[in-house]
Amino acid sequence: MSPKNLKAPRGTRDFYPDEYRQREWLFDCFRRVAHRFAFEEVDAPMLEDAELFIRKAGEEIVDQLYHFETHGHHLALRPEMTPSIARLVMARAEALRMPLRWFTITQNWRYERMQRGRKREHFQWNMDIWGEPGVAAEAELIGALFSAVDEMGLPRGTVRVRLNSRALLEESLRGGVLRDRPETFEPLCIVIDKLEKIGPEAVLEQLTSREAGIGLSEAAAEGVLAMLGAKHLDEAAAHVADDSEALADLRRLFELLDAYGVGDHVIFDASVVRGLAYYTGIVFEAFDAAGQLRSICGGGRYDRLSETLGGKAIPAVGFGFGDMVIAELLRDQKRMPEIPRRVDDFVFAFEDAQREKAIRLASRLRSGDRRVELAFEGGRLKRALADANRIGAQRIWMLGPDEADRGMVRVRDLSSGEEREEPLSE
Ligand code: HAM
Repeated sequence: MSPKNLKAPRGTRDFYPDEYRQREWLFDCFRRVAHRFAFEEVDAPMLEDAELFIRKAGEEIVDQLYHFETHGHHLALRPEMTPSIARLVMARAEALRMPLRWFTITQNWRYERMQRGRKREHFQWNMDIWGEPGVAAEAELIGALFSAVDEMGLPRGTVRVRLNSRALLEESLRGGVLRDRPETFEPLCIVIDKLEKIGPEAVLEQLTSREAGIGLSEAAAEGVLAMLGAKHLDEAAAHVADDSEALADLRRLFELLDAYGVGDHVIFDASVVRGLAYYTGIVFEAFDAAGQLRSICGGGRYDRLSETLGGKAIPAVGFGFGDMVIAELLRDQKRMPEIPRRVDDFVFAFEDAQREKAIRLASRLRSGDRRVELAFEGGRLKRALADANRIGAQRIWMLGPDEADRGMVRVRDLSSGEEREEPLSE
């Protein structure tokens, strides 16, 4: 293999020990918060039948799929966790006690155009609630999202959630542009989701295009765009009936978010619709408050996904919180901790003759759950001390011929420099 071929595929990520420790620190934050909210961890294969992920609404995520035919199967690397979660729930829907609170921390693959915080491989913390139709579930999830931000040591106010309801948009369009063709709602949301990226003119063009499967009149498309400008719930309320269920849900959700103490950091924004077809209700995205980065987290209600996959309808809501954008934000805010390597003990035999005794000592320390590096080479103490200090060990255990003959070992505390002898038998 030539050195050129040693490169990892573009957009994938290597984790050297320093980076791996930071990754584990972040995952530990996710895990602690998930457990505090009484969510259970689950997992599923990274490889699924491609069919699980292929939908026809024009979503970017489907075009970005890593998929291939092998051994007579059409398989794909998962681009997201939600369809796998749906598969797991559906397979045991009768036996599982709802509502379910499940979380996952998984690697996902998307053939993405790369930019800051976006690569082709990323990890996501997913939190999903199945079997609960009310917005109490959304509130719990958004509460957990902010708890994670707190857990990472980011000051409140660094992260903001923008929230909307697809149900509200659907209600407001139902009497008009969607009356004859309700099936255009999903593709319409996918187009609207691109607003920030491609701008209003391109969105208008796609909304009026028959080829894109929507084909609104110019006036109707402009009406939709005008609606997306609403930055306050009262503005959006003007487009729906007074007794709108979606509006009542949104108002209740904001009340509940206040009780979680996060209401001040969640804003209504009618332009948030999300780029995945399966959402049906509340949708939300978390961003850095300064607006420098892409979305940190995205989620929403997807009450019909299980039906789309051939099962009975089960209400569901969740979010996916990526590991990359939050890492950028933590670094920008100087909050990404340097995680030192943790080694408790360094065991050093001066000569090969003391090696067996050193092995037994290391084994004893390890059985006490201490992290022990056993030096492979004897020889100079100076070098052993330098090695022990370099790896950040707390103590060095030194076994020379003299100590070994007497059944003793010398131990030095590397921070205080204090040294004493201890019997090897203890
Ligand atoms: P998503 O918005 O596609 O939603 O992704 C969620 C988060 O994953 C994003 O906000 C971002 O932080 C991260 N992410 C996505 N793609 C990349 C990438 N290429 N590189 C780095 N980070 C990325 C979903 O995936 C939904 N399945 C979430 C969900 C769970 N909805 C309900 N339950």
